[in-house]
Amino acid sequence: MTFNARHAALIIPALALASCADEPAELPYGTAQQFMADEVQPTTEIFWQSVGSVSELVDGEPVFREWQPETDEEWEEVRLAAVRIGEFGEVLASPAYADGRGDDWLDYSQGLQDVAVLAEEAALSRDPEQVFAVSGTIYAVCTACHQMYPPADLPEGVTVEDIANSVNRPSSEESLEEYMGGTGE
Ligand code: HEC
Repeated sequence: MTFNARHAALIIPALALASCADEPAELPYGTAQQFMADEVQPTTEIFWQSVGSVSELVDGEPVFREWQPETDEEWEEVRLAAVRIGEFGEVLASPAYADGRGDDWLDYSQGLQDVAVLAEEAALSRDPEQVFAVSGTIYAVCTACHQMYPPADLPEGVTVEDIANSVNRPSSEESLEEYMGGTGE
C-alpha cells in the first residue's frame, strides 16, 4: 500500500481539531490520569520490578527466589526508567499540569525529580539493595501526592488508601509497613 499524501492532508487537520475539542491541547500527555496510567505507572514498574524476592512453596518446600538485572542492557533499562521518572516530575511541575493545584503539587513534583537522581545513582551502582531501597522512597513520593490529590470521583467504597495500595511495588504480598520498614531481611 502506498502512502496517499492527499488523504493525509485531509486527515491530519481533522485529528488536530478533534483532539482540541476533547481536551486542552496544552496537556502534552493527556489528562493527569492518562499520563499516570500510560506513562508514569508502566515506567516506574520497570524500576520497581527490576529487583525483588519471593518465597513460594514448591512441592510443599519453601523456596526463596531473588532476581535482579544481570546484563548491561538490563541495568541500562533500569537507569533509563529512573531518568524518565525525573522527566515525569518536570512534566508534572509544568504549568499544563500544575496550574490550579496548590504549592504542595510542585513539592511532590520536585520530590519525584529528586528521588529520580537517587534512582539513577542506584542503577549505576548496580547494587540491588540500593535499587530496592530507592524503590520504597519513590513509592512514598507517589503516595504522598495521591493522598493530597486523589482521583476526582472515587467509586463508592474505595478509599484513597486503596488507591495508594493498588500502585504496584516489589513483593506486593508485603504490607506497606513491612515494605517501607526494611530492605528485605
Ligand atoms: C504531583 C502529584 C503526583 C505524583 C508525584 C504522582 N501522581 Fe499518580 N496521580 C496523580 C493524580 C492527580 C492522579 C489522579 C488523576 C485523576 O484521576 O484525575 C494520579 C493517579 C495515578 C494512578 C491511577 C491512574 C488511573 O488509571 O486512574 C496511578 C496508577 C498513578 N497515579 C501512579 C503514580 C506513580 C507510580 C507515581 C510515582 C512514580 C505517581 N503516580 C506520582 C498525581 C500524582
